[in-house]
Amino acid sequence: MRGVSAGPPALGEPLVTGTGVAIAYDGFRAVESADFVVRRGEKFVLIGPSGCGKTTLLKAIAGFLTPSQGTITLDGKPIGETGPDRTVVFQDFDQLFPWWTVLGNVVYALGVAKGVHGSAARDRARAMLALVGIERAADKYPHQLSGGMKQRGAIARALALEPRILLMDEPFGALDAITRSQLQLDLNRIWRQTGVTIVLVTHSIQEAVFLGHHVAVMSNSPARIVEIVDTSAADDMDSPEFVRLSHHLRSLLITPESEARALQGAVE
Ligand SMILES: Nc1ncnc2c1ncn2[C@@H]1O[C@H](COP(=O)(O)OP(=O)(O)OP(=O)(O)O)[C@@H](O)[C@H]1O
Ligand SMILES: [Mg+2]
Repeated sequence: MRGVSAGPPALGEPLVTGTGVAIAYDGFRAVESADFVVRRGEKFVLIGPSGCGKTTLLKAIAGFLTPSQGTITLDGKPIGETGPDRTVVFQDFDQLFPWWTVLGNVVYALGVAKGVHGSAARDRARAMLALVGIERAADKYPHQLSGGMKQRGAIARALALEPRILLMDEPFGALDAITRSQLQLDLNRIWRQTGVTIVLVTHSIQEAVFLGHHVAVMSNSPARIVEIVDTSAADDMDSPEFVRLSHHLRSLLITPESEARALQGAVE
């Protein structure tokens, strides 16, 4: 990861490559034939209907799950088990340990995952809390924080480990609309300052177009990647390109089949 004072990064060479990825749970096919490339320094978004397989694919990149077919590589080498090179931020507000302060949570993670202790860990933790904008909450416990501050704490802890890739599973999904918009802006700023590669799962078309360089649209279960849309030129929500890409994503996500499935669900 680059220093916090670096400028906006340019997209680099492929970092994570998925080739023909299939993932099954005890014979249930959750994801099939997924081909994708995440470039170094990219914000890559996964979007798709509820229950289609977004979390499953993210977990496979994290190393929690092994593909039943195909390969996922990191820098050309098959992805192994979980490790601090791939940190994850989830949707829930209970990701921080409740018995430590925000600073203590980051310091603990640095000790366990990176072997960094003492003042070096505290200095790095304080720098990360400043990066995400909660340095003044360093000595508070999670129960004393708002949902948005807890998510900032989780992002600080994840970034403190200097991951090759930051994996985010609907990180802003449980936030109110105003806090969510603020966190989206801040994530873009954090990305510009760090150059970290991000794979982010969302249900929000607006969030996908705003944050992503590329958006992989997934179909219903078993999930396939229907299309990978280049959204890198659309970070101004008022621009015609933003509106055009939002419509395009909507047309891929809301089809006659998906409407029929929703109606069927409503009458069952
Ligand atoms: N541990 C598991 N064992 C068996 N089936 C699972 C398991 N986890 C997920 N599934 C199934 O795999 C499919 C994909 O689930 P997944 O959680 O990846 O979807 P998702 O796209 O993340 O959904 P959501 O948008 O609701 O978070 C679903 O049918 C789900 O029921
Ligand atoms: Mg999910």
